Amino acid sequence: MRNTLIIAAALLVASCGAAEEKGVKDAFEGKFYIGAALNASEIVGADTAGVEILKKHFNSIVAENCMKCEEIHPQEDVYNFTLADKFVEFGEENDMFIIGHCLVWHSQLAKWFAYDAEGNYVTPEVLKQRMKDHITTIVTRYKGRVQGWDVVNEAIVEDGSYRKSPFYEILGEEFIPWAFECAHAADPDAELYLNDYGMNVPGRRDAYVKLINDLKARGLRIDAIGMQGHMGMDYPTVEEFETSLLAYAGTGVNVMITEWDMSALPTVNMGANISDIEEFKASLNPYPDGLPEEVAAVWNERMKAFMDLFLKHADKITRVTAWGISDDDSWKNGWPVRGRTDYPLLFDRNLEPKPFLDEYTK
Ligand code: G3I
Repeated sequence: MRNTLIIAAALLVASCGAAEEKGVKDAFEGKFYIGAALNASEIVGADTAGVEILKKHFNSIVAENCMKCEEIHPQEDVYNFTLADKFVEFGEENDMFIIGHCLVWHSQLAKWFAYDAEGNYVTPEVLKQRMKDHITTIVTRYKGRVQGWDVVNEAIVEDGSYRKSPFYEILGEEFIPWAFECAHAADPDAELYLNDYGMNVPGRRDAYVKLINDLKARGLRIDAIGMQGHMGMDYPTVEEFETSLLAYAGTGVNVMITEWDMSALPTVNMGANISDIEEFKASLNPYPDGLPEEVAAVWNERMKAFMDLFLKHADKITRVTAWGISDDDSWKNGWPVRGRTDYPLLFDRNLEPKPFLDEYTK
């Protein structure tokens, strides 16, 4: 009898322990996917600890870099699928909702893509063909396996005008519908997205609402718009983020938070182009050995306020993806100031979940 009670007690304790170990993804089951961007060391499995966190807490993945033009299509007749193949295989092995990022983007664009042998822009016809070849080759390779594509990334600037990218300068506004048409032809079942940062800015918001409606009016498939969600301690406000979220949802597409992180460091001039890297200044790297408690408290409050906003609009949001697994992974440790120690993600450098998640997972 005594042994039975001891075993029952042990099982009870174990079940309580197991119950407390709910993954973040489980806390939002039925609400939206919880995703993370994967870097190369996580994709090849070198970062074993990070991969364990990923499997337990996330159910969607996006390629941080390996599917970008200069990495996957470095020369016109050369594709490098090695890492992208491993990324997709990892997602399939772990039953993840797999996102391809990104088919058309002005940054990390392979040098050859928009230029001829003389270094001049290619003609509109040549660029359209190159876009079609690029998109068709990549999307076809992962047809039925990659469930959603960031088709066009960061096409609109803050005032609502088109970014003066080679795509825009050669093809005008038509480069966007063309990209969506090519992606849909390659995989009719894949979800297709627009994606950008600073989506709370009114000029950009109005332009994307118009663009979404234009794509829909043309009968093109667009499933959702990605609000990247790169935030700081003093931007954006929850209210202005919600205003934009509702404006995008009002067009009838879903909304996704696609690259969520929140820098815990002083905001530096957020240039529109990530090449605006400022020289390293010690004052801009104030917490190299850890975040002061009072700063961490504010950071967690802001993150919880946004996660509560996402839950409030779970009927409009299909995915919340963090731009990395843990703080050490983050691009924010090197932008806009190299050599920083930032604390922007859902898991800390010890791979522990940030406190704001406790309310949802405990
Ligand atoms: O792979 C090379 C490596 O071989 C080389 O030794 C090293 C040093 O030059 O560079 C490595 O490539 C870097 C790559 O990240 C992988 O680490 C590139 O220089 C670097 O520019 C690239 O930065 C990425 C950035 O996009 C530009 O592509 C960041 O990791 C990535 O987090 C960031 O993500 C973007 C999204 O795609 C779009 N939205 C904004 C977001 C932040 O900029």
